[in-house]
Amino acid sequence: MTPIKIPLMRSTFFDEARTRERLAEFVKTSPRLSMGEQCAAFEKAFCAYQERSTSVLVSSGSAANLGLIQALLNLGRLKKGDKVGVSAVTWATNVMPVMQLGLIPVAIDCGLEHLNMTAALLEKHIDGLKAVFITNVLGFCGDIEGIATLCKKKGVILLEDNCESLGTRYKGKLLGNFGLASTFSFFVGHHLSTIEGGMICTDDRELASMVLMVRAHGWDRNLTTEEQKTLRTKHGVDDFHARYTFYESAYNLRTTEISGFLGYLQLPMLEPTIKKRSDNFVRFHAAAQKHEDRYYPLKADHIERLSNFAMPLVAKSPKILADTVKRFEDAGVEVRPIITGDITTHPFWTKELPKADCPNSRIIHSQGFYFANNPDLTDAEVQLMCGLL
Ligand SMILES: Cc1ncc(COP(=O)(O)O)c(C=O)c1O
Repeated sequence: MTPIKIPLMRSTFFDEARTRERLAEFVKTSPRLSMGEQCAAFEKAFCAYQERSTSVLVSSGSAANLGLIQALLNLGRLKKGDKVGVSAVTWATNVMPVMQLGLIPVAIDCGLEHLNMTAALLEKHIDGLKAVFITNVLGFCGDIEGIATLCKKKGVILLEDNCESLGTRYKGKLLGNFGLASTFSFFVGHHLSTIEGGMICTDDRELASMVLMVRAHGWDRNLTTEEQKTLRTKHGVDDFHARYTFYESAYNLRTTEISGFLGYLQLPMLEPTIKKRSDNFVRFHAAAQKHEDRYYPLKADHIERLSNFAMPLVAKSPKILADTVKRFEDAGVEVRPIITGDITTHPFWTKELPKADCPNSRIIHSQGFYFANNPDLTDAEVQLMCGLL
C-alpha cells in the first residue's frame, strides 16, 4: 500500500511549534494543573465566541453528550423510556448515552445533498418524541431553523451535537444555537484541538447548573452561593457536610488546566483557520461539481459560512466509490467513510434495536467517503485532491 502523504490531520494545534513551546512552559511553571482558572477563562471566551451565556468545559465531546442527557434526566425534562430522535448519520457516542441512560433512540434519515436531518424527514417521526438530539455533520446542516420551529410547535426539546460544526453560520446564527443546548468536541483534527476536550453550551440557567453538578460528582461546589444555599436548605445540609454531599446522579467529566490553557490560547486563531478550510472547501466543491456523473451534488449554498474539517462526497455507486478510494489511496491520500454512515446498521445498535428505514443514510453509508480539509494543506495538495475526483 502506498504510504500516506496527505493524512486527514497533520498538526495537533494551530501554530504548532509555538503552541507546544507555550504548553511546555505552562506545564513547567503553573502551580495548578487540575481544573481551575485556565478552564474558566476558556469557558468565558467560548461563551463570547459561541454567543451563548454558559459554556461548561468537559473531558471530551462524548462526555459532553453524556453529561447533557444525564442533566436533562436529573431535571425530569426527560424520563427513562422517552423516545429521542437522533440523526441516522451521526457519531456512536451521540446515540450511546441515549441508550445507556434508558431512553429510546429513533433514527431520522438525512438528506443525500447535505448529509443532515431536515424538517420534512423529522416530521414523519416527530409524534411521540420527547427530544431530538440532532448531529450537525461535517460543518453542514439541513433546514435547521425549520427543525427548531417544528420542535417548538410540538413541544419537543431540540439539542445539537455540534462536535463537527463549530463555526458554521446559518441564516445569521451559529450552529449550536438553534436548540436548548449544544455540545462540542476539541479532539485533535476537529476545528480546535485541546488534545481531548468538549463543551456543553446553553442559555438555560437551570440546565447549566445541573450540568455543573453532573460534571463533578453531583456536589454543589461549582454553583453560585445563592444556588448552594437553596440546595442545602432544601436537603437540610449544613456547610460542613455540604463539602461531601452528593445531590444528583453524576460523573467526573472534568478535564485539566492543560485543556483550558490550550483552548484559551488557540481560540483567537480559530477564525483564520476556518477561513482557510472554507477556501479549500470551495475548491473541492467546485471540482466535485464537474463530476456529477460520479458524485451526488453537494448543496452548500444555503449555508452562510460553512466550517468544514473533512471533505465528504457520496459516490453514485459502490463501484465508483471503490474506484475513487483506490485512486486516492494509490496517490497516498487518506480516505475514510462518512463518520458512522447509517448508525442503525452498527452492531451495538442491532444488538438492541432493529435497523431503521433510512434509505438516504444507507446510501451515505455504503457510498460515502471523506478526505482531508485541514489548514496545513498546500495549494499543490488541494489541487492534487481536486484532480483525483
Ligand atoms: C458528531 C460527533 N459527536 C461526538 C463526538 C465525540 O467527540 P470526542 O471524540 O471528543 O469524544 C464526535 C467525535 O468525532 C463526533 O463527530
